[in-house]
Amino acid sequence: MAIQWFPGHMHLTKQAITERIKAIDVVIELLDARLPGSSANPMLAQLTAGRPTLKVLNKQDMADPLRTAPWLAYYNSQPGTRAIALDSSDTAAAQRLIASCRALAPLRGGMVKPMRVLICGIPNVGKSTLINSLVRKRAAKAADEAGVTKAEQRISLADDFYLYDTPGMLWPRIIVAKSGYNLAASGAVGRNAFDDEEVALELVDYLKGPYAQQLQERYKLKDAAAMTDDELLTEIGRKRGALQSGGRVNMQKTAELVINDFRTRQLGRITLETPEEFALWLAVGQKLDAERQVKKDAIELNRLIKFKKIPRPPRPANTDTRQENSSDTPAAEEAQKP
Ligand code: G4P
Repeated sequence: MAIQWFPGHMHLTKQAITERIKAIDVVIELLDARLPGSSANPMLAQLTAGRPTLKVLNKQDMADPLRTAPWLAYYNSQPGTRAIALDSSDTAAAQRLIASCRALAPLRGGMVKPMRVLICGIPNVGKSTLINSLVRKRAAKAADEAGVTKAEQRISLADDFYLYDTPGMLWPRIIVAKSGYNLAASGAVGRNAFDDEEVALELVDYLKGPYAQQLQERYKLKDAAAMTDDELLTEIGRKRGALQSGGRVNMQKTAELVINDFRTRQLGRITLETPEEFALWLAVGQKLDAERQVKKDAIELNRLIKFKKIPRPPRPANTDTRQENSSDTPAAEEAQKP
């Protein structure tokens, strides 16, 4: 599915992170505990240049605890990384976050060397809610400080603890197809950017595996796992009375209903990916992306040859005489592959 969005603020936010990172001790990456892999911004590691990172699996109250545990173990096994799960409206849990930051940069603290933390995350992941919980009664105030751009805000959580907030940022191209669906289902991308029915079909396709029981209970179904995705969505529509004239199931309405049930926890606590699944999806996505890049490069090379911006590469010594025109170059052959 092509999820189409304009990643607004992206350039400004990227620029702000690049400038700010030089004076940052810890990066907090806020992830959605229901889709930790898909909600991680692939550009962030590059932008934050190996700074100690705290992965916060937020909205843990909506995620499957049996899956949150392996995700935490996965992140905690990575060097320079710690991970915690929390519900951002819980003020006590939010205080754990401060302690985890201090553990990641033990040499920082006190007025001379205050802790400087950058917080990043995709839109709707719960950053504002978390910051409000962290700030509690302390007024969140933006710093009037040179270098603090409009794309970030400095919040002082203690006299020696500064949090630099960045706007929610998505990345321009999602190479993991499944991530696109999961981000759409979670609410990270605006409604106009995707097709509800497609997202709902993908959602029930996944849920009928590990969460068949929850689907059956919510929609009074018999054997969800045995149904095709279309049958499943249609049956849900019928059961929930999402009908249109002639008694046919209104698929759009049904899709909205299923997505909404997922987002509001009506289907129970669900996590849409395990570390192993995500690793597999990522490998497939990267392979397809590399193939796409080869094709793109070949098209560009062919274009440059055609318009004589660069000379045609020399033919090998035993070149077949039939290879006469530039469209027979290896690059052009690559470009012509479907
Ligand atoms: P953002 O700044 O990252 O864009 O996200 P924001 O805090 O605005 O949160 C987005 C939505 O997620 C809000 O719901 C918020 O209440 C909810 N949320 C944030 N953290 C958690 C959490 O840990 N658990 C749960 N269950 N929900 C969380 P909303 O319906 O869009 O707004 P509202 O009606 O709650 O104000």
